[in-house]
Amino acid sequence: MSAQPMPERVALAFPDAFVWGAATAAFQVEGSTTVDGREPSVWDTFAARPGAVVDGDTGEPAADHYRRYADDVTLMHSLGLGAYRFSLSWPRIRPFGKANQRGIGFYDRLVDRLLAAGIQPWATLYHWDLPQSLEDSGGWTARDTAYRFAEYAETIVGRLGDRVASWSTLNEPWCAAMLGYGSGVHAPGRTEPASAVAAAHHLLLGHGLAMDVLRRDVPAVPSGITLNLYPVAADSAGPADADAQRRIDGLQNRLFLDPVLWGGYPDDLVADLAPFGLDEVVREGDDAVIATPIDWLGVNYYRGYRVAGTPRPGSAPAGAEWPGAGHVHFVPDPAAPRTDSGWEVQPGGLTGALRQVHRDYPPIPLYITENGASYPDSPVAGEIADDDRVAFVEAHLRAAHDALADGVDLRGYFYWSLLDNFEWAEGYAKRFGLVHVDYQTQRRTPKRSARWYANVIARNAVS
Ligand code: NOJ
Repeated sequence: MSAQPMPERVALAFPDAFVWGAATAAFQVEGSTTVDGREPSVWDTFAARPGAVVDGDTGEPAADHYRRYADDVTLMHSLGLGAYRFSLSWPRIRPFGKANQRGIGFYDRLVDRLLAAGIQPWATLYHWDLPQSLEDSGGWTARDTAYRFAEYAETIVGRLGDRVASWSTLNEPWCAAMLGYGSGVHAPGRTEPASAVAAAHHLLLGHGLAMDVLRRDVPAVPSGITLNLYPVAADSAGPADADAQRRIDGLQNRLFLDPVLWGGYPDDLVADLAPFGLDEVVREGDDAVIATPIDWLGVNYYRGYRVAGTPRPGSAPAGAEWPGAGHVHFVPDPAAPRTDSGWEVQPGGLTGALRQVHRDYPPIPLYITENGASYPDSPVAGEIADDDRVAFVEAHLRAAHDALADGVDLRGYFYWSLLDNFEWAEGYAKRFGLVHVDYQTQRRTPKRSARWYANVIARNAVS
């Protein structure tokens, strides 16, 4: 076989002060689910349900981060991370509606450790682990949960305050609402489309109420929200495919972007979601609360969608996580490589998602708060040569750079995830980490991608 010329790789420098980080979430890495007064979350309950999570995996042991956080911070430091994005566990901090000093103490120590290591703490208030007692009173379908969320925000913001470099209210409310209450693939596992719509609104209301707390209590700390955005392409220019594109883009992206950044739901979605009771849960004044100004928007990007209004070869119909869009079909690209999660690798979609926000919304600094891939990652002689992940991250950083070149105000990138962890309904089988975790011994082994990423950070450039 004759050698193919290598495509030319141009070194790309990132702006000064670009934030380089990695992310995790409480339930996915902490373990220690029954200690220090923690209340069970909906994910503890859901994972205990037979068949809910692959292999019956649960939040134990996860990556045992609750006990190993100090070593993990040392590891982050060795990689040169500038920032660590983690989430705070509501059921540790306010179990059964009461502030719990032991649970709070963990985050207090974690934040101090990060600061001592010169790593910015980026804290997310909600990454899906709702206290079970609140689910028992309706969960996110109950308007009251939004007010309980603000109360919890007040408790922890008052304690960690401006030691946190950047606060985020919610992580991916689409998943919490649509997978949690629509398709039931995530906790609490309810399959009620109208409840999913109510949950989406109450999550957004909770976001706005928590933003009020942040504005009041830590006005100098930049605060925002993290959304999972998927650029959506129509399979053809025909009207049925165009309508499918409008609906999926609406449910996935505009349902969250518009109320946060423009101050109201888009008219087409209001019409689409009327049969699911959207107008019944929205009260006067909610739009203004939800639109409380944010300082930055976090974009989680994994892949895009191609959709059609009728079946196409190999297409899959939209499931119950798409209220009112059951007729839409997702069209695969057979040529695209896939990750271990089966997701198509589409770096260009990242540029598209960032451009969409830049083009359609008022100016707002953007951070890529998650981007990453699962691969099998088997250690061979103690080494994990995850060249597929290196290629994935490099391609996505190049795509992010394309957005910068277009004038998008992109300020940072967080790889998902620092550590292999509990991948929700997929359990521990899907590994996203820069660092391999042996769940038997909890031994951490940085993968080749971790060393590669450390080099990018050190040079502030991809080459
Ligand atoms: C999005 C979520 O925020 C995170 O919890 C999850 O593990 C990754 N995507 C990968 O699916």
